[in-house]
Amino acid sequence: MKKINIGLLGLGQIGTGLYEILTAKKKQIEQSLNVSFEIVRIAEKYPNAKRKVHPPKKIMTRDALEVVRDPSVDVVVELIGGTTAARSLIKEALKEGKHVVTANKALLAEYGDEIFELAHKMRRWVCFEASVGGGIPCIKALREGLVANNIESVYAIINGTTNYILTQMTETGMGFNEALKGAQAKGYAEADPTLDIQGIDAAHKLAILVRFAFGGRVKFSDIYSEGITQISSDDIAFAKEFGYTIKLLAIAKQSGKGMEARVQPTLLPNAHILASVNGSFNAILMRGDEVGDVLFYGRGAGPHPTASAVIADLVDIAKAGATGPAEDRFMVRALGKTIPVNSIFSILSRYYLRFYVIDRPSVLANISKVLGKYKISISDVIQRERSAGRAVPLILLTHDTHEKNLRAAVREIDRMSCIKGKTQVIRMEEA
Ligand SMILES: NC(=O)c1ccc[n+]([C@@H]2O[C@H](COP(=O)([O-])OP(=O)(O)OC[C@H]3O[C@@H](n4cnc5c(N)ncnc54)[C@H](OP(=O)(O)O)[C@@H]3O)[C@@H](O)[C@H]2O)c1
Repeated sequence: MKKINIGLLGLGQIGTGLYEILTAKKKQIEQSLNVSFEIVRIAEKYPNAKRKVHPPKKIMTRDALEVVRDPSVDVVVELIGGTTAARSLIKEALKEGKHVVTANKALLAEYGDEIFELAHKMRRWVCFEASVGGGIPCIKALREGLVANNIESVYAIINGTTNYILTQMTETGMGFNEALKGAQAKGYAEADPTLDIQGIDAAHKLAILVRFAFGGRVKFSDIYSEGITQISSDDIAFAKEFGYTIKLLAIAKQSGKGMEARVQPTLLPNAHILASVNGSFNAILMRGDEVGDVLFYGRGAGPHPTASAVIADLVDIAKAGATGPAEDRFMVRALGKTIPVNSIFSILSRYYLRFYVIDRPSVLANISKVLGKYKISISDVIQRERSAGRAVPLILLTHDTHEKNLRAAVREIDRMSCIKGKTQVIRMEEA
């Protein structure tokens, strides 16, 4: 039986999940795969802290470098997170000739080039299934099941926290702040939720998906991201009236000579398959030129789903043997050409516009005039009843429009005296 010794960095949520599954399913894995995984060293900041699992004291250390340099370790599993210590530890592990498994999307999105290049040079694997979509095997699908395809588009809900918040807002009518507090109380949002609610976590995952779905280098800063903090319960309610649901989508698609890659709140028609992905669930809808649409759905976070993906990577490494990724088409292609990402200003989209207007005669006519000047045509309108002297919502949906024109028109409209507050702009997608 093949024996793989693991050096684990970080016994936090995912590290603990990994330890639990590898302990509970040791026999099952050995019998079905003929591989024995042994966690031989663990680095953790506070080795003596009280925790759910109790590894032997002698394998625990505070010093992560000790684990990375331990000659008995075959694979380093990095589960500490962040982009500082994790970056240097992974590079050190590769230089030491170890394979690496990581769930660290921030690190791979921002420093993927240097890490994958070093892995290629050292002929070692860096596996990262858990970094996108938690337990959903979407990277493996790209590597194996979809190998005959050129991927044309990816539409994904890849942040469980924001999907949970938007679902709560949709189902109960509560506002963003209340929904965020509820998500924190239930453990779906961190005490500092910035990376999630600003769309940055989803953008990290999208950067990894773009690299491996479309094959090439991608600059993280080229990926435009907008979060959900500005979405109000009014927006959710008006979207419903039009037959739409608001979701935070990560979108990547071929477009002209380059591609579009962005994270944004989006009005999706209720009939869209992603509109019914609720709560903390994730879903990734990919279109291949041969297979058509393929949907992956499941738990995008949490100790056991994420550790499930880490174990799949460990099994791949055990099966791949010593050859390393140097000849692996999937890894080599992702270090090839640079993928040009089009500017957000060049995209063509439909838009939801929500104005608060002082209700006077000809307000709608004046707004329409400005939109017309920028060649923006209106497809639908909701205008609330008059309320003397008070601002009332006016909602317009547009036909396809260039973002550049839309922004110029909204800037001009926002200067009109009948407009109160900043206009809400949300992009729309069709089924
Ligand atoms: N949580 C999820 O559902 C999920 C899903 C997908 C991917 N991921 C990714 O998985 C990774 C781990 O996430 P997590 O939720 O398990 O985080 P976590 O609960 O914060 O665990 C990280 C652990 O590593 C320890 N640590 C930090 N720096 C260290 C160092 N230099 N040496 C030794 N130990 C160190 C931390 O100690 P302190 O707490 O004392 O700092 C903590 O116990 C992250 O990259 C995350 O993005 C997580």
